[in-house]
Formats: sequence, C-alpha cells, structure tokens
Amino acid sequence: MEVIRAIPMARKACDATRSAGRSVGYVPTMGAFHDGHVSLMRRARDERDAVAVSIFVNPLQFGPGEDLSRYPRDEERDLSMAGELGMDVVFAPSVDEMYPAGHPEVTVDAGPLGDRLEGAVRPGHFRGVATVVAKLFNIVGSSTAYFGEKDAQQLAVVRRMVRDLSLPIEVVGCPTVREPDGLATSSRNAYLSPDQREAAGCLFLALSEAAEMAQSGERDAATLVAAMAREIGATPEARIDYAAVVDEETFEDVGTIAGPARALVAARFGETRLIDNLLLPGS
Ligand code: PAJ
Repeated sequence: MEVIRAIPMARKACDATRSAGRSVGYVPTMGAFHDGHVSLMRRARDERDAVAVSIFVNPLQFGPGEDLSRYPRDEERDLSMAGELGMDVVFAPSVDEMYPAGHPEVTVDAGPLGDRLEGAVRPGHFRGVATVVAKLFNIVGSSTAYFGEKDAQQLAVVRRMVRDLSLPIEVVGCPTVREPDGLATSSRNAYLSPDQREAAGCLFLALSEAAEMAQSGERDAATLVAAMAREIGATPEARIDYAAVVDEETFEDVGTIAGPARALVAARFGETRLIDNLLLPGS
C-alpha cells in the first residue's frame, strides 16, 4: 500500500492504475475509521480493481464554533486498517498541501440543496464539502466513489455536483452501518458520556417509528415529523435540531408522501451533534 502526501503523486498513482487498464474505486474520508468507513472500503475493494482512500480533516466544512480541533485523529491506526483491508493507495495530504494559498477564493456552491436542513444549521458546511470533494475528485480522476447513506444530504449534494459539473465519477451510495441498538456508527459517538450514549438510541427509535407508520400507510409527512419530534423530545439528554421528511432527490419538504421520501433527524447530546436518516418504506 502506497501512502501519498503530495497531490501530483496521488494523481500519478491513479493515472497509472487506469493506464494499466484497472478500474479505480475511491473512498473519501476524514479518518478515525469505524465500521461505517470499513464497509465503504470493503465494497470498493469488492467492486473495483484498485482502491484509493483519502484521509483529510477538511477545515473548510467546519463552522467557527464546531469540533475541528477536537475531531478524532489516529493516522497510525487508520493506515494499518487500510493496509489490512487491501487498499492500494492512501492519500493523506496536509492542510497546506490542499489549501496552499490559505482559504480558497474559488469554491463550489452546493446550490439550494446545500442551504436546507444540515446546511441551515451549519451555514457554509456544504460549500466546504462540495469544494473539497471536487478537489479530491480532480486529483483521483475518473473513478467510482463510495459514500455512506448515513450522510444522506451530503450524498445528494455530491450526486448533484457530479451531474451539474459533468465530473467523470460514478457515485455509489452505501447502507448505514449501525450499532446493536440502532445508533449509526460515527466518529462523534466517541464524545458521548455513557448516559448520552444510551440516550442517543432515540434517533433510530424515532426514525423506526416513522418508518413503521409509513409502512402501515401513513402518507401525511407532518404526522411522521410530529411522531419523531415527540420521541426525541421525550429524551431529556437530547436537544432536537430538526426532524424532517423530504423528497429523496430534491431534499424539499414533502406534505403528502407520493414518491421516494426520506426521514431525517438531528439532535445534540451535550456538545455532540448527531444526525441520522432512513428511507421510508413503501414511499
Ligand atoms: P467522514 O465523516 O469521515 O465519512 C466518510 C464516509 O463514510 C462518508 O461517505 C460517510 O457518509 C460514510 N459513513 C460515515 N458513517 C457511516 C455509517 N455509519 N455507515 C455507512 N457509512 C458511513 O463524510 C465525510 O467524512 C466528509 O464530509 C468527506 C466526504 C470526506 C469530505 O470531507
């Protein structure tokens, strides 16, 4: 496995793979690997001839009061896991390598999709994500890129960016990996106290309740949203940011569920903010 820090070297390694007639799978991450990341790397390994994974904690997508400085980092462990998973290339650039001129002046606007839900609570977040993902796609080049449904709005923004900017990337969405109680695996779960960790189970409970109601024929989005808000509201450790039911493609709020729809929730447990979502069955 090659560990690469410099952009030209990463580009060269991916170009050489394609020149040898081998397909490239690509998994962008911010490191601190958990089972969610592992599932993406395994899938890419199964489906492509060679796999590149990037590890870069992107300052651009963190707001001023957010957790950039305390974001978990353990490169040594990540590299050994990537090696065991049979990754071919790990691209782990420094902030200077990615942003040599400091804050970039030319950035990617994530469009209306980027202003809703997570984008409304975290202004500028999706501009930061779209900009770094566009840069990374430009470095890795033509490839199949694997993203988790855990970050469903991010996945929708990336799909839309690839379509709108004609990027030579096939985007594959992968199912959310969960803990036994349903809590989505996340680097941020490590920040939770034991009480908060137990309380965090309310997110999946709320989503499951909405899914069951949809399954039994409830089509009124407001009824599902109210049920989710009630479930999270009944958990004293949780402070809800939003509960929503949106169109799967546009992420616009829906009134009556008529096509594919996704339920999403976000809440804070102390300082730690968690998000989760589920595609509504029968939608
Ligand atoms: P990060 O949070 O490290 O996540 C990397 C990838 O892992 C994302 O596609 C995310 O959706 C996926 N992932 C996280 N938890 C998951 C889970 N429980 N099940 C399945 N997949 C999961 O997302 C980012 O990094 C960044 O925003 C990035 C795209 C790298 C741009 O900086």
